[in-house]
Amino acid sequence: MRTMSRAGSRHAYDRGPAQEALRLVKVAKTYGTDGSAVTALDGVTLGLGRGTFTAVMGPSGSGKSTLLQCAAGLERPDSGVVRLDGTELTGGSEAELTRFRRGRVGFVFQQYNLLETLTVAQNTVLPLKLAGRRVDRRRAREILTAVGLGDRLGHRPAQLSGGQRQRVAIARALVTEPRVIFADEPTGALDTRSAREVLRLLREAVRVHGRTVVMVTHDPVAASWADSVLFLADGRLAGRLDAPTADAVAERLAHLGDDVTAGV
Ligand SMILES: Nc1ncnc2c1ncn2[C@@H]1O[C@H](COP(=O)(O)OP(=O)(O)OP(=O)(O)O)[C@@H](O)[C@H]1O
Ligand SMILES: [Mg+2]
Repeated sequence: MRTMSRAGSRHAYDRGPAQEALRLVKVAKTYGTDGSAVTALDGVTLGLGRGTFTAVMGPSGSGKSTLLQCAAGLERPDSGVVRLDGTELTGGSEAELTRFRRGRVGFVFQQYNLLETLTVAQNTVLPLKLAGRRVDRRRAREILTAVGLGDRLGHRPAQLSGGQRQRVAIARALVTEPRVIFADEPTGALDTRSAREVLRLLREAVRVHGRTVVMVTHDPVAASWADSVLFLADGRLAGRLDAPTADAVAERLAHLGDDVTAGV
């Protein structure tokens, strides 16, 4: 049983409603000061249930990455509350936050962020090492087999295609069995077929393993794999679409800003 994060965070974090994987309350984040200040998030409030797959969309600069970073505990909001898997992230120390993140959050980036000097297997189990958890080769093999790379354990990232690298990154995000997986444009650098493979893995994490996935994407087809889409504009929630089809998503994106208060 993984009690480390809970025990370690006992004093700093609050336990919240158990059914929610993620809750943000009036989360705000501004970068820079005075003349150069940019408000990336302007009071975002949302709640995501456990075992849901949510896409986040919006124009470039609308705050999608900032939202993910704040929700995952990689960035601290200036104000507001972030509660992840029943634990409040806002308020704890840096060390507690890091420990919590390593135990319960997985993150997938557009550019994979694999370490070039490590093998596929070593990259995959790195989060376990960092969290001080037991690492066995069988676990690496198991999880890499699940993403279709069981025969690539000893390869280096440079020997893999983009789609294969992203599957390693997904294996790395899954290896700690996190409650919530954040993915920032995970298919942005991939061809259609590799993108589909990555989306299938993310959806499987939700459907088969009950994890919660939050994915930023610019692609209406990728978004249509999610249970619902949240739209951001100028750092604010600007709409929500459940059971999205690619056409409905594209249509909504085209009119984003027309209906700022609709559908949230
Ligand atoms: N580290 C930073 N320092 C200064 N400004 C930042 C920083 N990160 C983001 N911003 C600014 O905050 C705003 C929101 O950025 P963010 O990266 O969240 O947008 P995004 O929706 O992810 O855009 P994209 O689709 O281009 O990735 C932008 O105006 C951006 O310039
Ligand atoms: Mg971004």
